[in-house]
Amino acid sequence: MDIKIQGGKVVTASETFKADVGIKNGKIVQLAGKIDQPAGRTISAQGCFVLPGAIDVHTHLAMPFGGTVSADDFETGTRAAAFGGTTSLIDFAIQGKGQSLAQALETWHQKAEGKACIDYGFHLAVTDATPKVMEELGQVVKEGVTSFKVFLAYKGSLMIDDGAFFKILRRAREVGALTMLHAENGEIIDVLIKEALEAGHTAPIYHALTRPEEAEAEATGRGIALADMAGAPLYVVHLSAALALDQVKMAREAGLPIMAETCPQYLLLDIKRYQEPRFKGAKYVMSPPLRDKANQPFLWDGLAQGDLQVVATDHCPFNFKGQKEMGKDSFAAIPNGAPGIEHRVLLMYNEGVRKRRFSLNRMVDLLATTPAKIFGLAPAKGSVAVGADADLVVLDPKADLKISARSQHMNVDYTPYEGYTGKGAVAAVLSRGRVILEGKKFLGQPGQGRFIKRKAFSYVA
Ligand code: URP
Ligand code: ZN
Ligand code: ZN
Repeated sequence: MDIKIQGGKVVTASETFKADVGIKNGKIVQLAGKIDQPAGRTISAQGCFVLPGAIDVHTHLAMPFGGTVSADDFETGTRAAAFGGTTSLIDFAIQGKGQSLAQALETWHQKAEGKACIDYGFHLAVTDATPKVMEELGQVVKEGVTSFKVFLAYKGSLMIDDGAFFKILRRAREVGALTMLHAENGEIIDVLIKEALEAGHTAPIYHALTRPEEAEAEATGRGIALADMAGAPLYVVHLSAALALDQVKMAREAGLPIMAETCPQYLLLDIKRYQEPRFKGAKYVMSPPLRDKANQPFLWDGLAQGDLQVVATDHCPFNFKGQKEMGKDSFAAIPNGAPGIEHRVLLMYNEGVRKRRFSLNRMVDLLATTPAKIFGLAPAKGSVAVGADADLVVLDPKADLKISARSQHMNVDYTPYEGYTGKGAVAAVLSRGRVILEGKKFLGQPGQGRFIKRKAFSYVA
């Protein structure tokens, strides 16, 4: 046995039990009350929880967007992920206009290769659905990229029309992929942005005011209707508003294969942040925008009741200095996105589990087990089980937590959670049986993370 994690409480999506975890050749080989067999190395987890490594299915590393590039690349982003207890991520490879999907994927492979410190996969964002590209989607699935994202917003850059969206839904079903949807009505938002700018409204708050909840709910409902017509499953990303959640709930009650994720920012932060003085509101410019606080209890309920199945981050960091500042004269020029990859696990532990909104098992389900199943990573990833990859997190619940840009590892000059205090620390992290974090020390290596060829879509959560 290579490694033994001793004396911790193992937590899965369905059970919590005291057990030692035995690891050999990167896999979990034994789970038992006490493992007496000697191991090359023993890690004490006394008083700690042993969780499956969290999986972040929504990240944007080194992504060209809004006239700049997101500030974390695959090295800094995956290292920060590990510090926060995340051991796998799925990033969005974006097809440029006129580009083949092979070119888009090659670009993303090059971004990741030799840099990633944890395992990673790709979704493919289709922005130019030519007949040739539709054909190519079959090959993409064969290469282990089994989910496609479409944007109904960002008119003039990433947005596609309903016809293209419908064709992608049908083709995805045919080739065994899941379609993911950015649900905002880009046409209406475009009108509202132009009107706001014409009226001289340039401040960050207008980012939120020109992207109303109704525009998200409408696009969510439309997406569901088109998926139903195509006979295809749909996964709604970064759901932020109760009105949009109603659409998802209704569809699920009707038995449709519709799933949705939300993100910590929509659960913890609200629209008031855009009013921070000296342009600081720009830090929270993301799409969909932060909403009125009244939405949050509905989102928490959705997570607890199973109407929402995943918490991901939509990690898309831009520095305040030099990047967010590009929009000093116009909110529409502020690059959209915010950092979050490092803080998701402990924020959900504090706000979800410690505040008794859901159990620790449900947290594991939302952050690891269900994302692994939906996105074709299970059974190797997403659970603590014999035969699974030894992607593990030792979480110390007694440690004090304080979040600050000064101590974080993301390559960005702020955190939306500055000054947040709570409990818990990621005490150790293993990636396929290698200890990549212990104490506060990073022991991983760029290039250690492997590309995950994901399975075809088969699981509706
Ligand atoms: O503001 C955001 N969410 N930026 C990243 C791109 C996207 O829409 O997911
Ligand atoms: Zn999006
Ligand atoms: Zn995103």
